[in-house]
Amino acid sequence: MSEPATSELSATARAMVAPGKGILAADESTGTIEKRFKGIGIDNTEAHRRDYRDLLFTTQGLGQHISASILYDETLRQKGHDGTAFPELLARQGVIPGIKVDTGAKPMALCAGETVTEGLDGLSKRCAEYVKLGAKFAKWRAVITIGPGIPSQACVIANAHALARYAAICQASGLVPIVEPEVLMDGDHTIERCEQVSEWTLREVFGALVSQRVKLEEMILKPSMVVSGKDCKRQAGVQEVAERTVKVLKRTVPAAVPGIAFLSGGQSDELATEHLDAMNRLGAKQGGLPWVLTFSYGRALQAPALKAWKGSSANVAAAQAALAHRSRMNGLAATGKYQVDLEKKAA
Ligand code: 13P
Repeated sequence: MSEPATSELSATARAMVAPGKGILAADESTGTIEKRFKGIGIDNTEAHRRDYRDLLFTTQGLGQHISASILYDETLRQKGHDGTAFPELLARQGVIPGIKVDTGAKPMALCAGETVTEGLDGLSKRCAEYVKLGAKFAKWRAVITIGPGIPSQACVIANAHALARYAAICQASGLVPIVEPEVLMDGDHTIERCEQVSEWTLREVFGALVSQRVKLEEMILKPSMVVSGKDCKRQAGVQEVAERTVKVLKRTVPAAVPGIAFLSGGQSDELATEHLDAMNRLGAKQGGLPWVLTFSYGRALQAPALKAWKGSSANVAAAQAALAHRSRMNGLAATGKYQVDLEKKAA
């Protein structure tokens, strides 16, 4: 045995998917947060971005159901109102700080309508700085679009390869990689098509991870769920989404991966919670699953908080109560103990 049975990275990965906890994705780039702020009519200034992240991260008891939070470069360097750097502030809440390291999904050459995620150049240097700033893990999002004649094999392979190169660089730098291949919900495709593309994508991703020598024990998978396209006439119900998603994951994700933390991808907050709960209940019925199934939601955790806040300090307590509530609901769903009527007893 040349390697210890439990590395520091595998311990971090397991802590990120601790029972009843999930990840708060708060890594919106400056461009993406602008879209969210527009929805509540506030300007996208550095001060507003800082105020908003301060609100999220100082929510009392955040660490009860949130294991970790993904930050954007600017946020990792900012300080809260009390002068504490955000990574330190999160760590005090018992929340592991992490960092989005890709530089975005860019149009892919010779593949109309498709993107490939960039950010590998200089990545190991950036990772070394992020480690110094307190990050324990990283995230890279690949985007797969379903449409007439797409995804192409070129796109799936290029994105899988980039994810694997990123994951290897993270592990070598001392960061746990969150590997996020998102199959978009946009379009009128059926759930059957989403299932087929999701299975294909995950197969390519794990093939690439293994060939780049990524240690499966030291990573987290962040996939999309298998759902009907947003504009598809037949919208599959909660049970069908749960069954198809678990089936695809069982076929493609090795048991050595400690946890799978789903993105919400534009699902409503309550539906994202219901889906996660249904998968965990199904897993229990099947005698348990090889990995933890939890959440790494952005919009589905933050939307009610953002709506309550509206940019006003008078609404901070209400916004924090909304975040605490969604965190608790998803914490229950992560163990298959959520019930829709709990929503009525909102915080
Ligand atoms: P959503 O849950 O809003 O999809 O965000 C998660 C995320 O981190 C996307 O990269």
